[in-house]
Amino acid sequence: MEGTAFKPSRTGHPEGCPLPAISMSDPISSQPSIDELRGEFDQQLTSAIQAGNVQPVRDRYLGRKDGVITRLLKDLGTVPPEERRERGANANRFKAYVEQRIEEAVEAVRGVAERAALERASLDVTLPGRQPQLGRRHPLTLVRDRMEAIFTRMGFAIVEGPEIEDERHNFDALNMPAEHPARDMQDTLYLATPVKGESGGPDDFRTLLRTHTSSMQIRYMETHKPPIRIVVPGRVYRRDDLDLTHSPAFGQVEALVVGEDISMAHLKGTLLAFVREMFSANARVRFRPSFFPYTEPSAEIDISCWQCDGAGCQMCKKTGWIELGGCGMVHPAVFEAVGYDPEQVTGFAWGLGIERIAILRHQVGDIRMFYENDLRFLEQFPY
Ligand code: FA5
Repeated sequence: MEGTAFKPSRTGHPEGCPLPAISMSDPISSQPSIDELRGEFDQQLTSAIQAGNVQPVRDRYLGRKDGVITRLLKDLGTVPPEERRERGANANRFKAYVEQRIEEAVEAVRGVAERAALERASLDVTLPGRQPQLGRRHPLTLVRDRMEAIFTRMGFAIVEGPEIEDERHNFDALNMPAEHPARDMQDTLYLATPVKGESGGPDDFRTLLRTHTSSMQIRYMETHKPPIRIVVPGRVYRRDDLDLTHSPAFGQVEALVVGEDISMAHLKGTLLAFVREMFSANARVRFRPSFFPYTEPSAEIDISCWQCDGAGCQMCKKTGWIELGGCGMVHPAVFEAVGYDPEQVTGFAWGLGIERIAILRHQVGDIRMFYENDLRFLEQFPY
């Protein structure tokens, strides 16, 4: 609290001070007695302590220039020599008294201020603790990590490839030459800058955002010899509208196995082992005939609904089966495009949608929930 500002008056005494003025011209005998001064000092000090500021009283009594005590001591010079000794001793006793009381008062005021500050900052240990916000992995990352762990245990290598692709890797080498109607199966986002083809000029390939992870089948086989056993997780892009189950950017997991005598039975067995670990121990897999230019035969993969175990429910739209992705035996034309001999090797491949797997595994009603970063949604998944 601010103390009162005491300004010295014309008489040399602070304005507003209840002390009688001590005029320099007054003989010392006409000044208030030490007892009177002490009484007034005690009163003023008490008020100052209550107000929480002792400084004005200290200045008034102990101030070097105009303090009451300083002037008392100075005025001793005008006192007759026979009285000077006693008056001097009294004045000094008063000075010591004032100094000590002020010191005590300063301590007292400080103690009050400290206690008040402590009370303001005091801890209520009975309040429930605040839960710190911990970061956690995104549900799509959790699904991808889990898939990677399962395939790693099965002996697959995890590889990644570029999201910006050229037409050769995304289409041509996958048995979809220019003008092939199968290119329209996926609406493609093209980029402005082409890449140089081997002979340059008119053979330039347009660049695009890869429409599927199958482009990595080509990249990997171009640079590796069989046998091959890889899984390729990654983001792909299509000009699809955002709705409950579609997004223009989504994740896929490609698998490619190439070697001697790889058959459809290996494809089915591997897939079954995967879905049993990923979803449920008694999950079943079914293939529906389909078409992809880069596999022959081709199939859509369905797994038995683990919600109703095939009986039919809302999740599987009463069919008992849920679609996971596409698959098939690698087409001989693809092997030829990468310089493999289709007489020597065979292989299988599949591509599964990561969001679809997450939707099914966690029963999420809308794919958009994965992209909106709403903590109320994200916090429902384990770390
Ligand atoms: C393909 O992309 C093929 N490349 C899969 C393949 C790989 C077949 C290897 C044969 C051999 P498809 O377009 O059906 O196939 O996509 C595969 C999966 O991706 C779908 O089953 C679905 O789970 C997911 N998917 C497709 N489009 C979207 C989309 N717009 N949003 C979210 N997921 C999608």
